[in-house]
Amino acid sequence: MPTDLARKLKAFDPNLPLARASTIPSSWYWDEDIYRAECRHVFGATWQVAGLLEHVAAPGSYLTTDLAGQPVVVVRDEQGQLRAFHNVCRHRAARVAVESRGQASRLRCRYHGWTYDLQGRLRGTPEFDGVEGFRKEDNGLASLEVAAWGPYVFVQGASNSIPLATYLSPLPQRAEGMGLERLRFVARREYVIECNWKVFIDNFQDGGYHVHTIHPGLAGALDYAHYHNELAEHASVQVSPLRPADQTEIAQVRTGEAAYYWWVFPNLMINLYSSAMDTNLVLPVGPERCRVIFDWFFPPDADETFVRQSMEVSHQVQIEDVAICEDVQRGLRSEVFKSGRYSVRREAPVYLFHRLLARYLSAESRIGDR
Ligand code: FES
Ligand SMILES: [Fe+2]
Repeated sequence: MPTDLARKLKAFDPNLPLARASTIPSSWYWDEDIYRAECRHVFGATWQVAGLLEHVAAPGSYLTTDLAGQPVVVVRDEQGQLRAFHNVCRHRAARVAVESRGQASRLRCRYHGWTYDLQGRLRGTPEFDGVEGFRKEDNGLASLEVAAWGPYVFVQGASNSIPLATYLSPLPQRAEGMGLERLRFVARREYVIECNWKVFIDNFQDGGYHVHTIHPGLAGALDYAHYHNELAEHASVQVSPLRPADQTEIAQVRTGEAAYYWWVFPNLMINLYSSAMDTNLVLPVGPERCRVIFDWFFPPDADETFVRQSMEVSHQVQIEDVAICEDVQRGLRSEVFKSGRYSVRREAPVYLFHRLLARYLSAESRIGDR
């Protein structure tokens, strides 16, 4: 590992008890070295949402995505098996699939026309006779681990991967019986935010600490006194019992006994309510910008007004979060702020996030800089 990066990583101690710990340093929210290390050792080494499972349901269907700078294609092959590859042609590195999704029997690179079958094997190489020491068998698309849970297909770049269900645990077990399989994808909205991706995660993970101050509308619907956190290996959940519905718009769309705010390291949030789900996927777009993708899911028979109001409530909450996150990003650049402390009562989920981040980043010291 470059000594510079090692020195930067040492500035955070992940082994202190919460009451004595300090947050990751402010420089981690804009430093280029940290950002590059995150792309590789955090986003490149964890299960990442690649897209909606329903978009790769039929044999021959595919979807493409970009995971922290790595182009990826997920396909359903003729036998019905899901496969994922780096979307990079072995000839000159062009993408072999360029549409966000589609249907194909072969993946044909549009640059010089090399073709790959849906198992990723190189099949066609026009005008390539006479090239010595070149075997098609050695030049298939590089594969990634792929698995599905709930409405999503996930991919994972690391070779010694933890099975997806283990990684998400205890989310799959706890979501059973909540009727998620009845929910249908209804809409997607994207927000570009001028902050490091971790600012948005920190904000989500503060255990409800900012609900009253930043989201006065939402605060009315939550039973804050009984709001609590549960931590797992790569995930956490904030459980917020709901107040009995009153006449406010927000209470009308956040019904049921409780709201469950799941987070899966590093960048996926899944918000579960009694008859709806929405997810937030945070994608880094450089050290000081991120893109947050909101997906909404409802039962097929959901009332149109309920759907519209529910999405409006999420949008309003998001606008409030965007404003504070961009404010925080500016503050993290201040010369006087180096790091902060955690509320023991509320912010254990933030510390879990920072500890996992430090653990994955320090993997660089084991692998070395390639
Ligand atoms: S880059 Fe794909 S065929 Fe040349
Ligand atoms: Fe918030």
